Amino acid sequence: MNRAAEAEERNPLREGLSARAAPQPCAVVIFGATGDLTHRKLIPALYNLAADGELPPATVVIGFARREKKDDDFRNELEETTKKFSRQPVRDEVWKTFAQSVFYHQCEFEDEAGYKTLAQQLDKIDKERGTRGNRLFYLAAAPDQFEPILKNLKAAGLSEARSGSWSRVIVEKPFGSDLDSARELNRIVRNSFSEEQTYRIDHFLGKETAQNILVLRFANAIFGPLWNRHYVDHIQITAAETLGVEGRAGYYETAGALRDMVQNHLLQLLCLVAMEPPVDLEANSIRDEKVKVVRSLRRYSRDDIATNVVRGQYGEGAINGKPAPGYRAEKNINPKSMIDTFVALRLFIDDWRWFGVPIYMRVGKRLPKSGTEISVHFKHAPAVLFNKGGEALDQNVLVIRIQPDEGISLRMQAKMPGTHFRIQPVKMDFHYGTSFGKASPEAYERLLLDAMSGDPTLFARRDEVEQAWAFIDTIEDAWAAKENAPELFFYPAGSWGPEAADDLLARDGRAWRRF
Ligand code: BG6
Repeated sequence: MNRAAEAEERNPLREGLSARAAPQPCAVVIFGATGDLTHRKLIPALYNLAADGELPPATVVIGFARREKKDDDFRNELEETTKKFSRQPVRDEVWKTFAQSVFYHQCEFEDEAGYKTLAQQLDKIDKERGTRGNRLFYLAAAPDQFEPILKNLKAAGLSEARSGSWSRVIVEKPFGSDLDSARELNRIVRNSFSEEQTYRIDHFLGKETAQNILVLRFANAIFGPLWNRHYVDHIQITAAETLGVEGRAGYYETAGALRDMVQNHLLQLLCLVAMEPPVDLEANSIRDEKVKVVRSLRRYSRDDIATNVVRGQYGEGAINGKPAPGYRAEKNINPKSMIDTFVALRLFIDDWRWFGVPIYMRVGKRLPKSGTEISVHFKHAPAVLFNKGGEALDQNVLVIRIQPDEGISLRMQAKMPGTHFRIQPVKMDFHYGTSFGKASPEAYERLLLDAMSGDPTLFARRDEVEQAWAFIDTIEDAWAAKENAPELFFYPAGSWGPEAADDLLARDGRAWRRF
């Protein structure tokens, strides 16, 4: 092999963040197998991996749930929903082969005996299918079921790996609802699985463009010198959804946008954008740097929260011309609910790199468009030449589109062609779809493969989760206060949130980037 080919072979950025070991065949046991997540995300992800030849052929999936069901009924239901939610059309012959490796295990989560029969079933599968004693347990059940599941897995000897095999657990969000409950959950998980065996999923980290943030920052020398308070004016992060609460009233009424999206997904994105370069690409080296960002977030007093954080809830309105009910009128929602479906925040990272640079974040349901993007707004050019007379010249803005139309664009100034001297902003634009000519995998595909390979880089570590809750708790506490709690603003469905969110930036002489 020549040197270039060798370097290519070794290059950890070629395929992603790390030189991942090959995923190993295993039994994936999904708790909560009849639920929404299994149908919408997990099985379609596993099917797509199989269809693309990425799934180790011996992989077996066992759905573990309470309802009575035969293997074949389970497979038929999954086929129907996979056809609906799969990223690529389901091919009959691929599905047939895949479905032969899918089984159903009926059991109450509290029923210890059912875990013993699961252990026996897994042993049998190891012998018949070659899953080599490797087990990946996926907690997709309601969080109050995690404790009995974990306890029973341990009691049945399933949390301990046999020599030469592994046993891992993927824990779905919500990972607690505040710092205390997250710590308690961490304790419960720790009783059965070590930190090395634990994979806390944050599916935003599995999105292609989220992974690309570190490549953009650290594989391109030009950004290094600019990525700090000397050159960056401010940063914006927006995660907008047209969807409303969508039948998730039970969960959403206890969560709200701050817990549902900011504590995990948005803070994780912020960490990738703001972290220091890690010493290497090991999972813990990257997570060490990420956690420092959350620890450096400026903690606000109650008064500061009222001026720096805006909470909103959608009222009646219209999305794309279609009438949409207000949040309080949605099914199973308390008609007096004070839950936030929108949050805008003005944050500061008090570290050497970012001191004084505002970070504006907003997230909301029932907004006019769906999309997630990060924009880095660079400082204005000095007003000495083209803008000497006070004409406004737009800032350079680097936009990282997480979804849809994944890509990166850079806005800069150019002279308009012609005999007059006119300056106009133009965009250099990179689109994943056209540049690489292939569709990005779904986040869950990447994350499931990583867990099968033993690579925790794109999963949240215990301290990251706890630090994020410590930050979020100060805001939730202020909102829950009996007296002088900051106002809950209402916005019509189909608008960009309450006016107060615009004021947050207008006060600083800035505005949200138009989507
Ligand atoms: C989930 C939230 O974690 O992320 C949902 O619970 C939200 O409320 C979803 O809709 C958004 O994810 P995506 O990948 O569809 O942008």
